[in-house]
This record gives sequence, C-alpha cells and structure tokens, in this order.
Amino acid sequence: MVMLVVCMLGLAACGKSAAGGEEGSKQLVMGTSADYAPFEYIDTATSEEIIGFDVDLAKALGEKLGYEIVIQDMDFSGLITSLQSGKVDFVMAGMEATTERSKNVDFTNPYFRSDISMVVASDGAVQTFEDIKGKVVGVQVGSIQAEKAKELQKEVDFTVETRDRVPDLVEEIKSGRFEGVLMEDVVSKGYIKNNDNLKVISVPNNETGGASIAFPKDSELTEKFNTELAEMKENGEMDQLVSKWFGGVKSVD
Ligand code: ARG
Repeated sequence: MVMLVVCMLGLAACGKSAAGGEEGSKQLVMGTSADYAPFEYIDTATSEEIIGFDVDLAKALGEKLGYEIVIQDMDFSGLITSLQSGKVDFVMAGMEATTERSKNVDFTNPYFRSDISMVVASDGAVQTFEDIKGKVVGVQVGSIQAEKAKELQKEVDFTVETRDRVPDLVEEIKSGRFEGVLMEDVVSKGYIKNNDNLKVISVPNNETGGASIAFPKDSELTEKFNTELAEMKENGEMDQLVSKWFGGVKSVD
C-alpha cells in the first residue's frame, strides 16, 4: 500500500525511467542520432564516445536538475517512436519542434538555430540551386530536410533519395550517385572543411525553427528543462557551449 502511494506520487521513484533504474534512480536516457557533427557524433579518431553540443548541453542541464545522462544512439527516424514507447526519456538530436512531431511528443523552447543548405561536389554539375534540375538530392529519413526537399521539388524538378545516416548521404556525393545533400548549414561546414572536393550552396526558403528537446507528452520535465535553458541563455553558459562547438568548425570525414 505504501509502495503504491509512492508510485502514484512520482513515477521516477518507482524506476519508471528508461534507464531501468531502481527506486530513487536519477538517470535519464537521452535518445540521439550520433551522425550530425557538431550536434552529436563519434570522433572515431579519438574514441568510441558520443560527443557534441547536444551532449554537453544535456549533461549541463542534467547536472542542474540532478540527473545523470545516459546516451543511446539510434537512427534519427526512430527517435520519436522510442520516446513514445519509453525506450528513452528524452530526445536531443538537433531536432526541430515541427507541428507533425508535436502531435506525438512535447518540445522545449528552441535552443539553437541554423539554416538549411546543400552540400555538392565542388567541380560538379550543380553550382547553383537551379542546376539541380533532373539531378538526385539526398536527405536523411524522417528529417525536416526530407520535407523541405518535397517543397523544393515544386519549384525545380529533381529526384529525392533517402539514407538513414548523414555521413552515408555525403558518401553518395563522393561516389557520384547524388548531386546534392540537404542538411543544416552548421553541419555542412564540417564536411567542406579540409575537403576541397565538396562545397556548400544555398537553397531557397532555407529557414528552420531551430533545435528543441523532446519529452513524452505531458512530462513535467519539459518545463523544468525550459527553466534551466532560459537560465543558461541568461548567464552565458549557452554562449560558451555554442562557441565551443560552433565557433571553430571541426572537419568531418
Ligand atoms: N534539424 C533536422 C530535423 O529536425 C535534422 C536533424 C538531424 N539530426 C541528426 N542527429 N541526424 O529534422
């Protein structure tokens, strides 16, 4: 009976966290898609660890609220479902709070914004967006770039292809199967740095709403995280993280 009351008072106290923690467990499992440097990625040259802006931000927020953050990597398209099924406790993956996604999960306020641009081969047939006519453009499955591509198809006639992981999309430019790949501008910078064979061109209607943190519907953590995000924007901690990860863009290969 006492246990029942405790359970009713707070689910976390009953080990309901995706971390599978026992009573009093203070772990939160973050679902992410570690293929999007500098948001979240594995720097294979140095370790197996998932690092990035989102990871640092999640850990900072967790620390303030008394949670240890455990990271679980998966394909971007599986993140919302994993959150709904309780496999993960929240999602941070440079993910935008779209109307469609908001039907299934709750989002915090945006914490970082970057526009969409297109990575192309430097000496390829596509030098401006209009050149994409009749060509193949790659986008990540389930991303807003996939939606954006459909919109752009109304202006210029081109073919859209999808892959689960962003580095695989870029590989297809190198192998000549794709002529362009849509992604966030700050991510594209990592690919062109130290790679003369790739460059970035701009696309029309390239604005995004920015990245937010996703929680299960009606989670009380959404407002708690919002409060801490606001605090971090206020006290300069957010700026510090932004310049750490987006200030000097690191190359991705
Ligand atoms: N910002 C885009 C979206 O919300 C793409 C995010 C991709 N993130 C990733 N970790 N691969 O759909």
